[in-house]
Amino acid sequence: MPTITTRHFLKTTSVLLAGLVLAACGKQEPAAPAATAPAATPPAAAAKVYVVGTDAAYAPFESQNEKGEIVGFDIDVVKAAAQKAGIEVKFVNTPWEGIFNSVAQGDRDLLVSAITITPERRQTLDFSAPYFDAQQLIAVKSDSKIAKFDDLKKLKVGVQNGTTGDEVITKLQGKDSPNVKRFESTPLALKEMEGGGVDAVVADNGVVVHYVANNPGSKFKTIADSTFAAEQYGIAVKKGNAELLEKINQGLAGIKEDGSYARIYTQYFGAAPAAAPAPAAAASK
Ligand code: ARG
Repeated sequence: MPTITTRHFLKTTSVLLAGLVLAACGKQEPAAPAATAPAATPPAAAAKVYVVGTDAAYAPFESQNEKGEIVGFDIDVVKAAAQKAGIEVKFVNTPWEGIFNSVAQGDRDLLVSAITITPERRQTLDFSAPYFDAQQLIAVKSDSKIAKFDDLKKLKVGVQNGTTGDEVITKLQGKDSPNVKRFESTPLALKEMEGGGVDAVVADNGVVVHYVANNPGSKFKTIADSTFAAEQYGIAVKKGNAELLEKINQGLAGIKEDGSYARIYTQYFGAAPAAAPAPAAAASK
């Protein structure tokens, strides 16, 4: 009997203790739900954030600042267009090599990367309306005798692998030419020229002009050539993503109309887009 009583006592006590513990917990509980209560409202209906891939080694179009933030003309254009279209975007640095695949595989929703719209690329991607006019430009050392594109036939030329610069020089020299040196990024090709590893670099005018202007120590000059075709940049989406393309085009049209595109353009290239294609104007500086 005493055992039972003890057991009974213990049982009762533990029940009581448990009750106390629960009560104690219970007393604190209101605090927790209260704290999380505001979150009960579904967080801003979890607006979709579109992931924008960009090869951020292409100033002034896209680069990383000291803080590691992705900045540039392309970035500002897409941010403004997205805002107009009422969509949210975030930028993710994406190496040029594989950038087209990243959108095909769904890792990126959009690409903005000074991408030239070409018939070949149109087979696997859909492009927005063009948002920038560009052209190839040659960079050489200041004391170079090279005067035109045709002079590069037998010389070592650096390009960013898989770019339109790569295309034009590959066409000039032939696809098996050992003198076409392909780099992961355009700045790497330009660095190579500093050390004399290549005789020239062919890349988009805006980037070449920007590099030459910002690296006076490199002692480079630029050479324009009238044989280079006109190029236009577009924002890319996965082939068939008509809904997103429509939004981007809407946004682009909106910022062209309200003057914010012109403002961004002038900020980066110093002249209004209609007045003079900026790269040419900048190149003559
Ligand atoms: N416009 C050229 C092309 O489409 C070069 C673009 C390179 N862009 C970059 N962010 N690396 O081929």
